[in-house]
Amino acid sequence: MLLFQVLASTFAGAALAAPWSLEKQAVSSEVLGRLTLFAEYSAAAYCTSNLNSSGTRVSCAAGNCPAVESASTTTLDEFDEVLSFGDVAGFTAVDSTNKVIVVSFRGSRTLSTWLADLVFDQVNASSICVGCEVHSGFWGSWQTVASDVTAQVESAVARYPGFSVVFTGHSFGAAVATLGAAVLRHSGHKIELYTYGCPRVGNKALATFITAQSPNYRVTHTNDVVPKVPPRLFGFSHPSPEYWIRSGDSAAVSASDISVVEGIDSTAGNTGAAGASADAHAWYIVNIDKCSSTPTSVSRFCYASSETIIRLHCLAPLGVRT
Ligand SMILES: *[C@@H]1O[C@H](CO)[C@@H](O)[C@H](O)[C@H]1NC(C)=O
Ligand SMILES: *[C@@H]1O[C@H](CO)[C@@H](O)[C@H](O)[C@H]1NC(C)=O
Repeated sequence: MLLFQVLASTFAGAALAAPWSLEKQAVSSEVLGRLTLFAEYSAAAYCTSNLNSSGTRVSCAAGNCPAVESASTTTLDEFDEVLSFGDVAGFTAVDSTNKVIVVSFRGSRTLSTWLADLVFDQVNASSICVGCEVHSGFWGSWQTVASDVTAQVESAVARYPGFSVVFTGHSFGAAVATLGAAVLRHSGHKIELYTYGCPRVGNKALATFITAQSPNYRVTHTNDVVPKVPPRLFGFSHPSPEYWIRSGDSAAVSASDISVVEGIDSTAGNTGAAGASADAHAWYIVNIDKCSSTPTSVSRFCYASSETIIRLHCLAPLGVRT
């Protein structure tokens, strides 16, 4: 099947849902502060200076991580697996101001490439949970760094007692963070998960399992295209809850702009929001991929107009796959 058809039917279905019936449930200012801090840690994983020099402070040349830069931080490991599937990169940092060990994964630098290559294959993930199936590419990506990241977390937890452990990331990095957190929690670690613009990573059994693990902060923004893929009709599901930011691109986000949407595969948030925007994917409280050498832009991958019509120029990067 042409990916074009898949996307068209996904977004047509989304448009039928009524997203406005949800009860608005604003988050506390404390939660907003955490969502902001880890959005900035996710942004920092796009900055090369945090990927090539372990033992240094976390900083963002793009100026999009002020809360991180004002904290006392040191990276324990910085990695960039250039040759791996999906080019997995990120860092493990210790933040003694916020008493947290952060593992942050970078989103793909070539978003158009991985969206175009986003086949919907699932592989058996019964090593995580019974009946679980996981997206083959995201799973392969996590596995390229699994042993290093696990060793880093175990040594950091021993060295910094009382610190919490957070896995975070944006986009492709969010998918890797989700799977990493699921696996490490399953082996007994306490991990908080903060993801921004995460695609669906596996089937409903996996989403149910991750939902039960908690705490999960799966942040989405208006009608960001990426959390809408891979489509539900291919057997993919999102865990609950979702923290749905309703304010527009480049707008400051206040606590009342964020709805907590409960329920696996609820259509009350991003899934039910009409259309699909690439610009919305780049704005998560901060301009989250600003350090990327090739930031997200509408011309780089497909999006649907609010009328759910896939515009022709979207087909160039996406339509080559059948
Ligand atoms: C790491 O990357 C930054 C940004 O590109 C660069 O300025 C710095 O010199 C690099 N550091 C090392 C140790 O390669
Ligand atoms: C997944 O693997 C497990 C263990 O090898 C096996 O018992 C199970 O039947 C497999 N599930 C599917 C759907 O193939």
